[in-house]
Amino acid sequence: MLQAEFQLAHLTDFHLFQSAGAPWRAFLNKRSLSYLSWRLRRGRTNPPAVLTGLLDGLSSRMPDHVVITGDLTHMGLPDEFRRTRRVLERIGPPDRVFVIPGNHDALVASSRQYLRRAWDDYMAADPGLREEGAASDPDTYPRVREQNGVALIGLSSAVPTLPFSAAGRLGHDQRRRLADVLTRTGRQGLFRVVLVHHPILRGQVRMRKSLRDAGELRALLRRHGAELVLHGHAHRHSRERLNGPAAPIPVIGLPSSTADHADPDKGACLRIFSIVSQDGGWRVGVRDTRPNHSGTGPQAFSSSAWSLGDVLPNISK
Ligand SMILES: [Fe+2]
Ligand SMILES: [Fe+2]
Repeated sequence: MLQAEFQLAHLTDFHLFQSAGAPWRAFLNKRSLSYLSWRLRRGRTNPPAVLTGLLDGLSSRMPDHVVITGDLTHMGLPDEFRRTRRVLERIGPPDRVFVIPGNHDALVASSRQYLRRAWDDYMAADPGLREEGAASDPDTYPRVREQNGVALIGLSSAVPTLPFSAAGRLGHDQRRRLADVLTRTGRQGLFRVVLVHHPILRGQVRMRKSLRDAGELRALLRRHGAELVLHGHAHRHSRERLNGPAAPIPVIGLPSSTADHADPDKGACLRIFSIVSQDGGWRVGVRDTRPNHSGTGPQAFSSSAWSLGDVLPNISK
């Protein structure tokens, strides 16, 4: 059971780009399209300085845990993984920062080995919470961390896909293990936060960017429940709900943490959830801090507060 307020920060979709030094052979695949998208658009819309500003805000009030929902790299190149490793170390130690991969981190099959080498400890489950099969397969998900009454349940929807596709997939085995994890952590009365890179609701992204087995995941969540679902990938804010067994499940999407955008729906945002026990359930407050859209002058921030609504029931009761 939650003993006190638990602060959970959400960041996502850094798309940190680093092409210098990569051999031309590294681009004879899907990376060439990502390179092009950077040169044509993201290089202007996603300056890393935006993330630096958000992290300055984070360092003054380190939350209990930071979750990052994928696409930390743009092309899945070794130097991008090394660069993002340095950013992760700046955010916090591996036992306070939990990373799941996005489709850009698994852009080509070889990205997977760089990802494991660079972020293994930041993606690791708590020792003792490795689910069935994890010992024999280093890519096994979900990965679960539990702290002070909160279960962080990391999924991987990152799979290499054909050019022009940014789709994701969990697969049958991961979904089966997720059902077991949700059942166990629900019975224990933990506040279950499901982390997934791709949005899970219908119509949130175009088909070529969608989670292929989102329907199966939604059915599973409706049956077993969760207290919160966080995702990235769509690069825009979204606040939705999915029917759960006891109460609607908030499904919350966040824009890219490097997005310098005039549209407030698409601009970077540091989001911190404050989870507290109340009346046998939980109350969740949210604080968003956004850098003002760049232009001239020093970067400044604005903050707003909202909540996930009424007290969320604890289904173990
Ligand atoms: Fe992304
Ligand atoms: Fe993505």
